[in-house]
Amino acid sequence: MTWKKIAEKSEISAGKGKAFKIDGKQIAIFNQDGYHALDDLCVHQDGSISSGKIDGDIVECPLHFWHYNFKTGELKDYIKDVKLQTYPVEIKEDGIYVDF
Ligand code: FES
Repeated sequence: MTWKKIAEKSEISAGKGKAFKIDGKQIAIFNQDGYHALDDLCVHQDGSISSGKIDGDIVECPLHFWHYNFKTGELKDYIKDVKLQTYPVEIKEDGIYVDF
């Protein structure tokens, strides 16, 4: 695992998520109750969850409204025991870093 700078601190508005491409992967970072990073790939039909509506710790996939806990990666409906990969996030002086 390697820490990589992925964004400037001001880049992700409070209460929102944003998609980033790094090393051929697309990840979503959410700025809600701290910063949280996970794969930006809905298991239903590969939608991007980063622009989904946030309610508490839950983000709703904008395509067909499946729900994920963005802190744990856990899918909250339809299929049991499905989790998106999550990644540690650290806020440093010069930006937001994610450990891949
Ligand atoms: S692609 Fe996410 S709910 Fe369908």
